[in-house]
Amino acid sequence: PKPALNGPMTAPSSLPRLQQSPRDPAFVQAPYLFYDRVRQAGRVVFWEDWGLPVTAHSTVVGGCLRDRRLGRAAPAGFGTTPAAHLAPFYDLEAHSMLELDGPPHAKLRAQVLRAFTSRRIAALAPEIEALCHQLIDALPEGGCDLLPHYAQHVPAIIIARLLGLDDTTAPDLLRWSHAMVGMYQARRSPEVETAAVAASLEFGAFLRGQMAKRRLSPADDLLSALLATETDEDRGLSEAEILSTAILLLNAGHEATVHSLGNALAQLLRQPQLWAAAQEAADNAPALAALVEEALRFDPPLHLFLRWVKEDMEIGTQVFARGERIGLLLAGANRDPAIWYDPDRFDPQRPGKPHHAFGAGAHFCLGAPLARMEMQIALKVLIQRLPRLTLTEPPAYADLYPFHGLNTLKVHY
Ligand code: HEM
Repeated sequence: PKPALNGPMTAPSSLPRLQQSPRDPAFVQAPYLFYDRVRQAGRVVFWEDWGLPVTAHSTVVGGCLRDRRLGRAAPAGFGTTPAAHLAPFYDLEAHSMLELDGPPHAKLRAQVLRAFTSRRIAALAPEIEALCHQLIDALPEGGCDLLPHYAQHVPAIIIARLLGLDDTTAPDLLRWSHAMVGMYQARRSPEVETAAVAASLEFGAFLRGQMAKRRLSPADDLLSALLATETDEDRGLSEAEILSTAILLLNAGHEATVHSLGNALAQLLRQPQLWAAAQEAADNAPALAALVEEALRFDPPLHLFLRWVKEDMEIGTQVFARGERIGLLLAGANRDPAIWYDPDRFDPQRPGKPHHAFGAGAHFCLGAPLARMEMQIALKVLIQRLPRLTLTEPPAYADLYPFHGLNTLKVHY
């Protein structure tokens, strides 16, 4: 039967139901076992703990991401109004392209793409390489945790420079973005909410100041390029949109890339033959690119994205009504045996195929070219400079589902 249009979502009786707490420590360390169960149980399965139908089939995930009848924003009459005290956070989110669909999304995305040019991105390669060398020069003697000493700095400093912000702002950016990203955890505490609201206010005030400076004297940076659109009445961005865009770029550009780099290194360091393969790949651009793609397929940092159903439709073999939601298990799709031979093996030699770590369709990650370049350079420099890198303790994932990244990555060199 078709579930009711209004009211809380109930499990359609025909869907197989699975239970799995996203806080269960075994799940946090090895979520792929659950994704296998989901995939085997059906094309769409009801995940009881989220109260959500989900899919881990690659073709269903890809189809949903590309289907305009599904969107990130709730259709009119659905969705919840956030609590008033969270307004500073949600006001910023309201103008973010990631939370919009259709023409408002297309307008924002097109303007950002015009400013986020491949020329501007390619020009960053030598800077990223120099930064990686500086970070390695500054590593403590003997050993360290590579997340705070290496992985964390690369995306934060680079996106700050791209926007035109001074390197010295990076620690504040890291702090604010970490606090704001906390809002997307499976279960968040009141402390997480308070920190996210405080960070939204501070971050917003800081960026408004930066925008005021650039209005007076524009520079050759992304923030100035976005501000330059303000005069175009039809397609230009408003101050609120520029603010949300800058924050989206800083937040999206930071945490996911740090975790991708950490997860990739953990895989490579766990198996000596993979570390040896990585050393060979470091001097060879196509092999290095393939290594990074396999790392993103095998252990991506963002596991679950939701979509709202905007008009009645079928997903898998299930009828969905307008106002319902579906969870897309990107990381589960990346291990689908219908697409990937021996999917649970990390194999940098496997023939390249599109994976879902960056999503697909209208919201396909706008930062993918930058993220790929950062990962390739950061891995290459690390492998070349520290060939004897070894783990000093088994890396463990943090309890932040649907984010999937390490707590620490302790090594000696
Ligand atoms: C969107 C993943 C790095 C900017 C997305 C989406 C995914 C993703 C899965 C789509 C979400 C959805 O469909 O609901 C990643 C991963 C990264 C990464 C795995 C690192 C390896 C970056 C970087 C930037 C960035 C470095 C910017 C500098 C964005 C933006 C969107 C987005 C702006 C929204 C696009 C839109 O709504 O049209 N990312 N991302 N990302 N990402 Fe990334």
